[in-house]
Amino acid sequence: MKETLVTLSLVLAVAASMLSPERAWSRETAVAGTLDSPPTFSEHVAPLLYRHCLDCHRAGEMAPMSLLTYREVRPWARAIARVVESGDMPPWHADDRYGPYLNARSLDQDEKTTLLEWVRGGAREGDRSLLPEPPAFSDGWSQGEPDVVLELPAPVEIQAGGDDEYHYLFVPTGFGEDVWVSSAEVRPGNKRIVHHSTVMVIPGSLIEEGPNGPTLKRVGSRSQHIERSGYVNRIRPDVAVIDDGCSVPGGGDFTGTTPMEGPQIAVYLPGKGPDQRPPGHAVKVPAGAYLMFQMHYSPIDEPASDRTRIGLVLAEPGEVEHQVKRVEIWNNLFAIPPGAERHEVTSCYTFPRDVSAISYTAHMHYRGSSMAVEAVFPNGERKPLFAVPNYSFNWQTTYVLREPHEIPAGTRIRTTATFDNSSNNPLNPDPSQTVRWGEPSADEMMGLWIEYVER
Ligand code: HEC
Repeated sequence: MKETLVTLSLVLAVAASMLSPERAWSRETAVAGTLDSPPTFSEHVAPLLYRHCLDCHRAGEMAPMSLLTYREVRPWARAIARVVESGDMPPWHADDRYGPYLNARSLDQDEKTTLLEWVRGGAREGDRSLLPEPPAFSDGWSQGEPDVVLELPAPVEIQAGGDDEYHYLFVPTGFGEDVWVSSAEVRPGNKRIVHHSTVMVIPGSLIEEGPNGPTLKRVGSRSQHIERSGYVNRIRPDVAVIDDGCSVPGGGDFTGTTPMEGPQIAVYLPGKGPDQRPPGHAVKVPAGAYLMFQMHYSPIDEPASDRTRIGLVLAEPGEVEHQVKRVEIWNNLFAIPPGAERHEVTSCYTFPRDVSAISYTAHMHYRGSSMAVEAVFPNGERKPLFAVPNYSFNWQTTYVLREPHEIPAGTRIRTTATFDNSSNNPLNPDPSQTVRWGEPSADEMMGLWIEYVER
């Protein structure tokens, strides 16, 4: 198991495909209100909240309060005006110049105006008969009934007063033939301790039976870079520092390893919806494959246990036009000096084939402050592809493109991240430390994940 953890340390993944189904209410009601008759909750505001806020602001979801009914919303009117004006809500951190995105959450200018005018006009309820039907959120699977449900082989027991723990657990699919997954949803058994869960498809050929059940056969040479303490991995302190990954052959990844290519079929993060692929797109799960659950458990005051599940919605092979693949591009070799306010780190990766990029996810920890990605085409031209100018650890969204980005073979993907290790960063656990790669959130990572299809 220990070996397995070492080889798998690069798998940390907190992506958040948020392809939540488009909500149905119309936009017409969104823009409204004149000075004489300011917008009302029932007629103008409720439809906006239903569409943009309820994914998180309803009972049992990640946000601290529900914004469903007038009674619930009214005490928050001023706060709503503040966060809408500042752009803090709904949370959205990608630079929209490089979209548009299928899962865009932002309010447009008219919608913002409606909310602000409503608050300025007294936050009135208005005529209740005009209130649209509230959306139906099922308590069960939000992707609909899955065709297949797989769960952890046994409950994981977490002791009180410990540290962050990563567990890697393998579940045989038992599939006798290749299967195509169009949507997948991870449901934690115990939301209080599951910080995140990432599920990846591992071909049966990479699995061997160990004394404690299935484990991953050793591949690559990561153990020379990584050391393990407790339930987490960190870079060895003597590994040479390379901040400018683009200046070295491996692009910043652990030297001698190839970038991880592997389908991650679903990720759980609080408030995140199922991982649904665009129509005609699916992830392949080969016959005999295993699902690897990477479980990140948060420290807790009393013992607790968890048995997380995943539900898969399958596509008929005839419906699938595009196989979704994914590459993880990392710089794992950087070091962020104590107190540094804007420490720059780069990574580079060259696509060996023509691909169409369909989504981007930036992954850093508490000190991550921005990420920008550009393509350097074989003819030398450069083009920005994606940027998260104000990265936040709390909002790790997968940004799904409406129109794929065409990337010809030989294109170099150049990513530049900045980290804020100063005391001005409110999330910074400790500005006095030099920070390097490690799985705990108080260490750092610098990763870009691209989902793509081959052309
Ligand atoms: C993706 C999930 C998500 C969506 C979508 C979302 N919120 Fe939030 N919201 C949160 C979370 C989590 C918090 C509490 C933590 C925080 O403030 O960052 C929050 C906090 C707030 C607060 C309290 C801020 C404070 O200072 O106390 C307000 C007001 C708010 N949201 C309004 C909205 C409105 C209005 C919308 C829709 C236009 C919206 N939110 C959409 C997750 C979300």
